[in-house]
Amino acid sequence: MTTLSIIKADTGGFVGHSSVHPDMLAVARKAVRDAVGDGLLMDGTVSYCGDDVSLIMTHEHGADAEAVHSFAWDTFLRTTEVAKRLGLYGAGQDLLSDAFSGNLRGMGPGYAELEYTERPSEPVICFLADKTEPGAWNLPLYKMFADPFNTAGLVIDQVMHAGFRFEVYDLYEEKRIWFDTPRDLHDLLMYIGAPARYVVHAVESATLGIQAAATSTQRLSLIAGKYVGKDDPVMIVRCQSGLPAVGEVLEPFAFPYTVAGCMRGSHHAPFMPVGLDQAHPARFDGPPRVVALGFQIHDGKLIGPRDLFADPSFDRARSQANEVMDYLRRHGPFEPHRLPLEDLEYTTMRQLEHDMADRWEPLAAPEPVVPASRRG
Ligand code: F6R
Ligand code: MG
Ligand code: MG
Repeated sequence: MTTLSIIKADTGGFVGHSSVHPDMLAVARKAVRDAVGDGLLMDGTVSYCGDDVSLIMTHEHGADAEAVHSFAWDTFLRTTEVAKRLGLYGAGQDLLSDAFSGNLRGMGPGYAELEYTERPSEPVICFLADKTEPGAWNLPLYKMFADPFNTAGLVIDQVMHAGFRFEVYDLYEEKRIWFDTPRDLHDLLMYIGAPARYVVHAVESATLGIQAAATSTQRLSLIAGKYVGKDDPVMIVRCQSGLPAVGEVLEPFAFPYTVAGCMRGSHHAPFMPVGLDQAHPARFDGPPRVVALGFQIHDGKLIGPRDLFADPSFDRARSQANEVMDYLRRHGPFEPHRLPLEDLEYTTMRQLEHDMADRWEPLAAPEPVVPASRRG
């Protein structure tokens, strides 16, 4: 078995939270080259979306492997050093712990890992997003793997016809459940339509019995008990030969659906598919961005990437996202642009409740209504 790991962290922004500095990428690229040279990794590449650096790696250590996670941690310490030296914003933001122990769970960096036996040809797409949360993958995963209006193969490909199995996490109560589509479709949607709490963690083919997709599912705000940065998610999707075709995997992003994140991690805004040269949130720290990096994996080597959203067929999604942004921005601090109180990443509410406690007074009990027949 080979493992494809995407491990990512925000270790400093250039400028503000909008992007990463090229010197940070250079340091990370050297670390990955060395790790390939030392035999720790089969292959690796470094990419980004907004202020997050992603290490995309193939190796034989399995998921949650100490060797690979500690390598990623050390690499993020190095990019943090660069960020500190240049005075970049929020240096080391996602490194929540003082020291590494065992694996990265609960330590800040996000990761998606998929263990697989390489097929004769292995096309894979790595999605990286900024200014949103892991539940942002729920809608496109549903469309790719369960919606025949998106994925023609569900109807006309014999291998896909039996459907897919979704593994869903409850991030609040730390438990999981499986749904087999199409049979459990309506149950699945009841849960994953609430993406702040229920997040698709993995998808498997019913016929092939192989894993087709993996997402990162950490919520930094819950881990740290307070806001420390939006847990910008990553996702791996394998394609073709009985799995959704590359074009079926990209298709859901032609609709710039609304996600939670954007300014201060506290607003709904459209999800904009972009090429790497546009992966820098700007307006209102948004709109949230997603890049799609396509690879052919061959003998563990990452042949690529192809920057799949850098294509005119996604121009309309980008311009529609700008229109939706105009519309939502006009709501200012009102819902549904601003998130409901319980989902805010930043809040002054607790302080306000405290400060204003003695200014609130109970409403007087209503006067009893006397029927007209008994009046006067
Ligand atoms: C959202 C995000 C940004 C920041 C905002 C304020 O995920 O990263 O929108 O929340 O720029 O940042 P601070 O509080 O660091 O000034
Ligand atoms: Mg940041
Ligand atoms: Mg970010």
